[in-house]
Amino acid sequence: TVLVVDYGAQYAQLIARRVREAHVYSEIVPGDTPVEEIVARKPAALILSGGPSSVYEPGAPVVDPELFTSGVPVLGLCYGFQAMARALGGEVAPDGTREYGRTELTVTEPGALHGGLPQRHPVWMSHGDSVVRAPEGFTVTASSERAKVAAFEDVERRLAGVQYHPEVGHSPHGQDVLARFLHEVAGIAPGWTTSSIIDETVAAVRKQVGDGRAICGLSGGVDSAVAAALVQRAIGDRLTCVFVDHGLLRSGERRQVERDFVAATGANLHTVDAADRFLSALAGVTDPEQKRKIIGREFIRVFEAATGEVAAEEHVGFLVQGTLYPDVVESGGGSGTATIKSHHNVGGLPDDLEFSLVEPLRALFKDEVRKVGAELGLPPAIVNRQPFPGPGLGIRIIGEVTADRLETLRAADAIAREELTVAGLDASIWQCPVVLLADVRSVGVQGDGRTYGHPIVLRPVSSEDAMTADWSRLPYELLERISTRITNEVAEVNRVVLDVTSKPPGTIEWE
Ligand code: XMP
Repeated sequence: TVLVVDYGAQYAQLIARRVREAHVYSEIVPGDTPVEEIVARKPAALILSGGPSSVYEPGAPVVDPELFTSGVPVLGLCYGFQAMARALGGEVAPDGTREYGRTELTVTEPGALHGGLPQRHPVWMSHGDSVVRAPEGFTVTASSERAKVAAFEDVERRLAGVQYHPEVGHSPHGQDVLARFLHEVAGIAPGWTTSSIIDETVAAVRKQVGDGRAICGLSGGVDSAVAAALVQRAIGDRLTCVFVDHGLLRSGERRQVERDFVAATGANLHTVDAADRFLSALAGVTDPEQKRKIIGREFIRVFEAATGEVAAEEHVGFLVQGTLYPDVVESGGGSGTATIKSHHNVGGLPDDLEFSLVEPLRALFKDEVRKVGAELGLPPAIVNRQPFPGPGLGIRIIGEVTADRLETLRAADAIAREELTVAGLDASIWQCPVVLLADVRSVGVQGDGRTYGHPIVLRPVSSEDAMTADWSRLPYELLERISTRITNEVAEVNRVVLDVTSKPPGTIEWE
């Protein structure tokens, strides 16, 4: 394991992903983790992340010099590079040298990190101070206009550092530099591949579950599908999958789970058809938060009743969840496995039913989850699925949710999705909510007659993480095709409008 020591950079997760792209497993540890604790984990190497712009800033994280004498190979990036220089007796000038963004790097000595790279190439810088003298024993290997010492290495001691950010896409040779550090300086053999992930996870699940039984809720989304497929591979039909159809799914999604997921995995699937129940609970409700509460509450009740039924037949001790590594990092969680007690507010669950959690994706990033899913044979429609909110189409009908309105929205949504796929845009847009303004009517004309129908809103967005988003500039021809098809094929709709609001101030969904 390579440990990425996080000094508060927004880049720590990106660094960890890049290390894994070089086929080496990596995890993130907080910057204040004691050195003994880090060394006790026997890391194959450490990568110190960037952080605040100056090592002289009050409250700047302290890098313990013992990190560099423990014998573990270390690569310092940006802040980590400066901290390394300082800890080992080099000199960092608090001169407010500023260099932000794309910068040209000059390789002055190919060395271990930059061997084989062009002598001049662009890198991404973001620093206030700069290293003016490398520590004893280090060779300076690169410079930039404002940073005389932009990289150094001591191959003997397996220590190296760069002032720039090799992990970002704006440093086109950055991945090479990381890989060279890992493979050549630290001497780590690449072994982290999709098939090794599958083998290790399957073995771990087998060990955890023993000859017990597990249950997994499927949402139709990629995480729960891949988690279930992994557990299925590990314990076969001792896994039961429960799929709650709340009637708020998009066209074809139930079939994807019932037919395609089962065909790919051979999983035992228990579908609960709860559409009527959700519709009655939502009758007359128009407030978005109220809708969310009702859908969330009903979902838990239905899911628990179903798991209770399954678990009552034969003792089920394990509940599978699709928790991903970023959730683990963000909640400050370690590698422990929690036990949860199911809150059973409906009959059906034995009183003392407790599940141990099985979280087969706990070490994985989303892109790794998709690769694992593909290798396990899940269809592209499942592994490449865009984010879809838990409350489903319930929060994409502005106004009361009824069966007829759901049918209208489902038809319009299916057309938009189909055309986006045909145009090859699935990978470049983050998601495209299609929204029915059910309480709005406008006048139109179709054939010889006046119509008085509802508008459909298209909300295509690009985003990195859904926290911020921009509206996608879809080609006019594509918009035209979607508009023509929806107004021709969906009887209740006589207008298609495009949402051109970024987030903020808008949100991605309309409710
Ligand atoms: P907003 O609308 O807040 O959406 O910009 C950000 C991301 O979250 C999704 N979303 C939800 N997901 N339950 C979910 O599981 C919800 O209630 C919910 N509301 C929004 C949305 O699709 C987008 O990806």
